[in-house]
Amino acid sequence: MLHSGALFDAVALPYDLLTRHPVWERHCALMAGRLPRGAKRVLDLGCGPGNSTVHLRRAVGSGALGGDYAMSMLRRARRRALPVVCLDAGTLPVRDASLDAVTMHSVLYLLRDQPGALAEVRRVLRPGGRALLLEPQAGHLNTARGLARALRTPLWAGVALLWRTMSALYGRFTPERLRAALESAGLRVLTIDETLGGLGLLAVAER
Ligand SMILES: C[S@@+](CC[C@H](N)C(=O)[O-])C[C@H]1O[C@@H](n2cnc3c(N)ncnc32)[C@H](O)[C@@H]1O
Repeated sequence: MLHSGALFDAVALPYDLLTRHPVWERHCALMAGRLPRGAKRVLDLGCGPGNSTVHLRRAVGSGALGGDYAMSMLRRARRRALPVVCLDAGTLPVRDASLDAVTMHSVLYLLRDQPGALAEVRRVLRPGGRALLLEPQAGHLNTARGLARALRTPLWAGVALLWRTMSALYGRFTPERLRAALESAGLRVLTIDETLGGLGLLAVAER
């Protein structure tokens, strides 16, 4: 499988244009709405061009930072005046127990070492801090259901189809598998809800 860093470096511009869609934006805002009360220090891991980071900054202000390892994605985020750093999910350059939340919007499914990345997320969260993940949901029925709903908005249907294609290549989660991955990393799952018309899962977990 192609390393996703190379892929996202190559597609930063079309990715940025396509995902500035109201439906994607709405779900970024939904994720930001699940931050712990009073959160001030938040890392948007795998921030890409910053769609999710924009909403986190609206929610918490200047303490929200984006991180990604694809330089062309980071350049696009910087054009939006977002503070971002180059990092790898496997070794976060962040002190232990120093963050109120780590968000991963469409990121975990791309990673080769998911347990390693989640262990890092747990390490950097303060006790009571939250991991918020929006990931593609498995299941042909969910694909059919989600895409049928997306068809009402043709451009969004195109974005959803691309996201579905990516996750067909890299992997998807059932709620049970996502819960098991989070719990194995020592995180306590608060909720896992369907989102994006059944195409995705939004997980909220706590250290
Ligand atoms: C599907 S995009 C999501 C971008 C953004 N969160 C959004 O909601 O639009 C996934 C991002 O994760 C990044 N990524 C993948 N693996 C990574 C890793 N190991 N470390 C840091 N970033 C990674 C990719 O470069 C890409 O920008």
